[in-house]
Amino acid sequence: TDYPKTFPENFLWGGATAASQIEGAWNIDGKKLSGAECIKGAKKGNINSTLDDATLRSITEAVNSDSEKEYPKRHGNDFYHHYKEDIRLLADMGFKAFRISIAWSRIFPNGDELTPNEKGLEFYDRVFDEMRKYNIEPVVTLSHYEMPIGLTLKYNGWASRQAISDFTRYTETVFRRYKDKVKYWMTFNEINTGTTGFHATGALEDGLKTENEKLQLRYQALHYQFVASSLATKQLHEIIPGAKMGCMLARMQTYPATCNPADVVMAQKVDRLNLFFTDVQVCGEYPEYMNRYFAEHNITIKMLANDQQILKKYPVDYLSLSYYMSSATTAKEVNDLTAEATGNQHAVRNKYLKTTPWGWQIDPQGLRIALNTLWDRYRTPLFVVENGMGSYDKISEDGKVHDDYRISYLRAHIEQMKEAVKDGVQLMGYLTWAPIDLVSFSTSQMSKRYGFVYVDLDDDGNGTLERMPKDSFYWYKKVIATNGENL
Ligand code: BG6
Repeated sequence: TDYPKTFPENFLWGGATAASQIEGAWNIDGKKLSGAECIKGAKKGNINSTLDDATLRSITEAVNSDSEKEYPKRHGNDFYHHYKEDIRLLADMGFKAFRISIAWSRIFPNGDELTPNEKGLEFYDRVFDEMRKYNIEPVVTLSHYEMPIGLTLKYNGWASRQAISDFTRYTETVFRRYKDKVKYWMTFNEINTGTTGFHATGALEDGLKTENEKLQLRYQALHYQFVASSLATKQLHEIIPGAKMGCMLARMQTYPATCNPADVVMAQKVDRLNLFFTDVQVCGEYPEYMNRYFAEHNITIKMLANDQQILKKYPVDYLSLSYYMSSATTAKEVNDLTAEATGNQHAVRNKYLKTTPWGWQIDPQGLRIALNTLWDRYRTPLFVVENGMGSYDKISEDGKVHDDYRISYLRAHIEQMKEAVKDGVQLMGYLTWAPIDLVSFSTSQMSKRYGFVYVDLDDDGNGTLERMPKDSFYWYKKVIATNGENL
């Protein structure tokens, strides 16, 4: 028997973005605010997240403000007005696939309307048509860290079961509308991290005292998202035969900090809390180990009689993941910087790895390990839909951006991904985060750049918005043209 020596021929090379980080036009053509557009930018010099500012006061203040400067996700990189130019640049690199998300609040501005906003639907028609013109396959996220703020204010978002019907009215609308244009879909971006914070449960956490109360709220909200995701999968298969629905996991690869069995057990526990999400969405049922976790944390998930059947009947077609870093886990309670990014309270620095300026540990081999782990566990097609490195880019004296650090990061990850393919992993494609500079999710900075294309815009929202290819642009073009042979 033989094994694959490289990537399959129809491999989906491309890049990924999200509505609230690129579009701008937050109050144009009928659109209203989404949760993401109510998150303030990080204070100067603060590289950590500001995601948890979820008090009713802060949300009300945001809703009453029309400042783009304070809330940078309202301006994004102005893709709304630059999409033709941007897609042409991606086509020039030879993109086979481009991942965007639909802003739910562009289609149902408050979230609870019964008829959609036609102008919002028309925008994505134009975007998908533009992609099709260049044979670029759209990959579409239905909810990327956001929902209409109207639903947050009305019933605290996913804290309420009502969100399921509002979400599935939205998904049915877009499946019907784009049925001839979009084949690859996914429901919730990074469902394991997106379930926390106020885009998921409104300001409710603010009133809770204990960690267990917060966990109860989050896991209940998550349950509603699981059910909504399965119902959307059912709809998709009925409305667009042959279309594929994915779940999306922020894969937090972790290693035991030492071979002390106590560290190994803790690493396994932490790892299961990451894999739990895909256990439900791929296998269609809550795994046994969560029973103990729920009991020990005083969590009871309220379910309707047929929720479990719905999960079992409509699992996803593929598993997509983001991969940025790995962590190491120790049995001791620690408070290490990496915990900020990984969400792992037991994370410690791995002395074998370097970090990005934002403290994310760079670990290309971790991607191979992640892919093999997921393939071994699920035997379902995998799709890397985010991978990349945030960096401070400088325009050199010759007027160009020489981003060799970005090339090295991506090259090393693609090499390891190729190893995983040789190991037998069935991989659908590779999308970098993000092909064009955009507003960072965790810090809302423009200066945390990921793109092959530079966008002239700074952290205060000043700039011409002009687009310019960096060195990595030409490098990635060559990678795609050679199907990953010429790295
Ligand atoms: C992923 C998210 O977690 O990481 C993206 O899906 C995000 O929305 C990306 O932008 C990079 O993170 P950040 O915080 O550097 O923008």
